[in-house]
Amino acid sequence: MKKQIKNNVSWVGKVDWELQRFHGDEYSTHKGSTYNSYLIQEEKTVLIDTVWAPFADEFVQNLASEIPLEKIDFIIANHGEVDHSGALPALMEHIPATPIYCTANAVTSLKGQYHKDWNFKVVKTGDTLDIGNGKSLVFVEMKMLHWPDSMATYMTGDNILFSNDAFGQHYATDRLYNDLVDQCDLFSEAVKYYANILTPFSGILAKKLEEVLALNLSIDIIATSHGVIWRDNPLQIVQKYAQWAANYKENKITVIYDTMWNGTKTLAESIADGIRSADPEVALSVHNLAKSDENDLITGVFTSKTVVIGSPTVSNSILHSIAGFLHLAKEMKFKEKKAAAFGCYGWSGESVKVLNGLLSEAGFEIIGEGFRNQWNPDESARARAFEFGKQIARA
Ligand code: FEO
Repeated sequence: MKKQIKNNVSWVGKVDWELQRFHGDEYSTHKGSTYNSYLIQEEKTVLIDTVWAPFADEFVQNLASEIPLEKIDFIIANHGEVDHSGALPALMEHIPATPIYCTANAVTSLKGQYHKDWNFKVVKTGDTLDIGNGKSLVFVEMKMLHWPDSMATYMTGDNILFSNDAFGQHYATDRLYNDLVDQCDLFSEAVKYYANILTPFSGILAKKLEEVLALNLSIDIIATSHGVIWRDNPLQIVQKYAQWAANYKENKITVIYDTMWNGTKTLAESIADGIRSADPEVALSVHNLAKSDENDLITGVFTSKTVVIGSPTVSNSILHSIAGFLHLAKEMKFKEKKAAAFGCYGWSGESVKVLNGLLSEAGFEIIGEGFRNQWNPDESARARAFEFGKQIARA
């Protein structure tokens, strides 16, 4: 259903209430998502992005009920990823000659995915497209935010930045705008989205934000491709991104472990008690990885100054759950975070050494040598783990 955003600009996207996993199974979306597509009806009619492939037919039908499809003069593909381009094949069946404006990399992406030679018009930063009524579209390449093909499109006159993935959230809502939804839900999804999707590109993002701000564009609305549209103080999310891109951390320590017979779990709790006793102010949370959501834990790592990771020794190494999580953490390229390792063992006892190696490779500054305990922790081992927690809090 078409919903007016401002003047002749409308939302024509899809709310995906039941989405639970995104990027295959890589990203948990507890609150669903939206695929935001926008229709501009000035002297020229413009479609900005489409929706994910499973909703292609519904999208095209809805669009055709609003306007004759052949009235679409231009399509803007801000990003080639399938959640935004997925309805292009169905749409282009109806209007095969309509020009698609996108970056050179997006041509590669779209051709690679759909194997169609559509009427691509390559644009780069600063290029403009006149859409009549004194308004135009200005393109801004957003390379690596988060794919090499990403771009944003700014509409003059109405001062709308169609930012695509940037500033988005996987958050299904029919309220459409940032001021109409629960703010805790909104910001917890926005930071999760940043932590899991954009953290690896924080350096690039910081430079891009400076570049966009230097353009001195008046921005009344940031129309993202996922979640809400920022209309109330839209620059608040830009300011948040600037903070998040600057190696963000709060006064927070996150303890993450997996355990076989609860020995490592016992250590985790004693370490946490030690941290708390040494620092009554620090935010502290303890998670059994096997019973937690990895993307939520990545968000926890993102917001923490220190992470404490535990695994028992198994087969001269660590549990594969923890190994997989540390692989994911390495992908995120976290900077300026500390880490400490711990774990129980029965025989050979390599887990702490392996953890220290993986944490170091993932860019964490290692606190001490770690803490390991043979067999089940007794009172003395728990006391030493408590002391180790105090050492972490003071590091
Ligand atoms: Fe929402 Fe990179 O796609």
